[in-house]
Amino acid sequence: MESQWGEGASVGVDSTRLEELTPEPLLTRDYETRPSLVYERLRQQHGPVAPVDLLGVPAWLVLGYREALQILQDDRGWPKGLENWRARTDGDVPADWPLGPSLEVNHVLIQGGPGYPSLRTAWDAALKPFQDPGHPQAKRLKAAVTAYADELITLVGQGGGTGVADLSAQYSRPLPLMVASHLLGFPGSQGDDALMDMWRVLDAGPDAEPALERLLATLAELAAGKLAQPGDDFPSHLLAAHPGLSLDELARELFMLLGMVSDHVGILMSSTVVEVISGDGDGVRASLSAGMIRETMNRVVMRKPPLVNFVPRFAAADTPLGNYTIRAGDPVWVSPAAAHADPLFADHVAPSSTISTRAHLSWGAGPRQCPARELASTVAAVGVGRLFERFSHLELALPADQLPWRSSPFMRGLRSLPVRYELAPGTERLAAPRPAPALPAAPEPEGTGPALPDQLARQRSSLWRYLTGLIRGGR
Ligand code: HEM
Repeated sequence: MESQWGEGASVGVDSTRLEELTPEPLLTRDYETRPSLVYERLRQQHGPVAPVDLLGVPAWLVLGYREALQILQDDRGWPKGLENWRARTDGDVPADWPLGPSLEVNHVLIQGGPGYPSLRTAWDAALKPFQDPGHPQAKRLKAAVTAYADELITLVGQGGGTGVADLSAQYSRPLPLMVASHLLGFPGSQGDDALMDMWRVLDAGPDAEPALERLLATLAELAAGKLAQPGDDFPSHLLAAHPGLSLDELARELFMLLGMVSDHVGILMSSTVVEVISGDGDGVRASLSAGMIRETMNRVVMRKPPLVNFVPRFAAADTPLGNYTIRAGDPVWVSPAAAHADPLFADHVAPSSTISTRAHLSWGAGPRQCPARELASTVAAVGVGRLFERFSHLELALPADQLPWRSSPFMRGLRSLPVRYELAPGTERLAAPRPAPALPAAPEPEGTGPALPDQLARQRSSLWRYLTGLIRGGR
């Protein structure tokens, strides 16, 4: 390299091409255990933009807050869409690249090009009933989340009024899955078996591939059902807003929704629970108002973004960025986790403060920021709130710095959340209220309210069998 940097300051732009830089692998054991040290080392070596090797494919990792914002706010200069990737067009991305399968599914998060704007508009429209606080569907969603939370807590309580539990496996993972089933309009608990396949896909174990096939087939079947008989659910609203979607395209969008809801919302809930228990616990727990939970969540999402790196964008033209020139068609991965540690950002957020800033990038920024922020925050806040209402005591069964994490190139979250609990007296067997999983197409007569998923069917489902098997109880 021709130039040298210290403290991230540049003394000239390096015009070496990405493929000639032979960058270091990013996804190392260090990255898995202490990602912040890896980001800092890269920042020291390269400044705000660093060349990295992503499982054999070179890319630029954006570590600087200012540079991240610049990219996210300029969709023309840095479009998404794999068709913009020069190395892929030139055949330089191996066919068996491990990240290929998750990026080649052409849904709204990945897509660029002329089809994108109408798809995004349709997403916004389809999410609206669930996010607009005054809308009856948003109220039903909140009631459903509370009911699902109660079902799960009651199940944990079958191990006894006091005991140990893994609140990740027994609560923050299944709860969003049940919410996803509600959003997708699966009838009753019929979707449970298919949704468990989502876990197998996300965990990328040996059974991931057949699970993905089964899941996509189920989603295609669901999509066909909604086309034939629309309901008051996300797939039907998306179809109404974008009638041109093929069944295959709709199934891909549903897959995207399922992944986002079931993984990222669960991660956010688990991290928030840890923050309430072990962070400024007393302060937060003592005043667990909805607003305080939201504030805690904002701090958590800022310090531990569920999406640690965003899917790639591509330079539309040769562009100087940080200390390098990014060539047209080079992939750039914006890392909010690294950008939040950039002194430019971090120095303005006191680590001990319980008050956070809204200037963080954890929901994205610019035209492609998360359209479901309100939905995700509501589900997580209701889930966390209900937990602290029903458990009079919760403490971590491991020191916070020993909790196990799982990470992928895109996300980072707790692998498990072992706690010792005590149920609040009188709430052990609290029956779930009767909210709505999904409404049928025909309007219900006034006052009858939609039914809960049939409890017996629920108990027979593989999700329930799995959760029942996790009950551990006594300390
Ligand atoms: C804690 C939960 C969540 C977090 C932290 C989160 C975060 C994000 C972020 C950072 C982006 C922008 C990515 C980028 O710029 O490349 C994004 C995009 C997106 N998110 Fe979320 N999200 C969450 C939950 C959800 C949920 C539950 C849904 C669906 C119901 C959803 C749907 C989407 C969609 C469709 C996009 C793509 C938007 C576009 O490209 O126009 N997200 N999300």
